[in-house]
Amino acid sequence: MRCPCKIVNNEIYSNVSMKKIAILAGDGVGPEVISEAVKVLQAADEKYNIDFDLKYELIGACAIDATGDPLPAATVERCQSSDAVLLGAVGHPRFDNNPAATVRPEQGLLKIRKTLGLYANIRPIKSYKSLYKASPLKESLITDVDFVVFRELTGGIYFGDKGRRGNGSEAFDLCAYSVEEVERIARLAFEAAQGRRRHLTLVDKANVLETSRLWRETVSKISNDFPNVQLDSMFVDNAAMKIVQQPAFFDVILTENMFGDILTDEASAITGSIGMLPSASVGSKVALFEPVHGSFPEGAGRGIANPMAAILSAAMMLEYLGYREAGQDVRAAVERALEKGVATEEISRDKAASTSEVGDFIAKSIVA
Ligand code: IPM
Ligand code: MG
Repeated sequence: MRCPCKIVNNEIYSNVSMKKIAILAGDGVGPEVISEAVKVLQAADEKYNIDFDLKYELIGACAIDATGDPLPAATVERCQSSDAVLLGAVGHPRFDNNPAATVRPEQGLLKIRKTLGLYANIRPIKSYKSLYKASPLKESLITDVDFVVFRELTGGIYFGDKGRRGNGSEAFDLCAYSVEEVERIARLAFEAAQGRRRHLTLVDKANVLETSRLWRETVSKISNDFPNVQLDSMFVDNAAMKIVQQPAFFDVILTENMFGDILTDEASAITGSIGMLPSASVGSKVALFEPVHGSFPEGAGRGIANPMAAILSAAMMLEYLGYREAGQDVRAAVERALEKGVATEEISRDKAASTSEVGDFIAKSIVA
């Protein structure tokens, strides 16, 4: 990185446009894919004169090992004083296989989302022509799929009261939503729909759940402010089916926290690789960008993880910070890599490139 100062007529001016980024590489393949995203950010910095200031902090299992806390105070402070956060992945099998563990890596992720007020998780699902063959769906179904899921991220069953009763023989997780929590993400989703194909699908389980009925009421009121957006509602089980039967039906999906978690894993798989899906989490102030694929512990340290989701998350971050052209440039470079077959093994089965080869190709093609 260059010095964040400019010398003009022998006077030193502090560069106010410097962008502070907190990098939380996390666990599993997180550090590997993030170092490729950083290569790409450095290439964009070079070409567009951005002046990134990147600072690394801990989250998840690696933070537990180092400090006993999945989200150390230093990480929270760094994120709060940054312009954006780029996160790799969080999770480790030694916690997954131990139901008695009271401190878990995922607590760090949930807490940073809540602390930064990141109530909207935006997950674009796009099919790439060069990946049609890798999709489990027929080419005719996957062609031109392009939708975006707005997943509520700081409420619902993830954050409701939870616990045990009856001497531990019963467990409960409460799902609760307020009108305000629904309204704020619904507005973002409607605004996004206005800039797209103006079709919003609310996914819920209003035939069973009271929270879903509150979502329907609230979203239908808000739709009055967006008369040019067509609103429809779909039960989550039906939506799960529709995503594999007719994914091109969707434009914007709006849904609560856990439905969004499940449906976005399903939706990413139909594009041919879960390693392609980026995400942005936005809310009050600082936004956070992360690949959807998770820590993929079996792949860690083997150079096989696809860095494209992390790189596309960095592209979303560039656009969010106002560097639209740089973001588009990164997307185009990812597409070039796919077209040339420079991709990891789940996509380029016969002549797979390693994680860092993919990152190198994309970074070089930006500077070129
Ligand atoms: C995701 C992940 C997280 C979630 C886990 C790791 C807590 O699956 O970001 O989708 O459930 O939100
Ligand atoms: Mg998930």
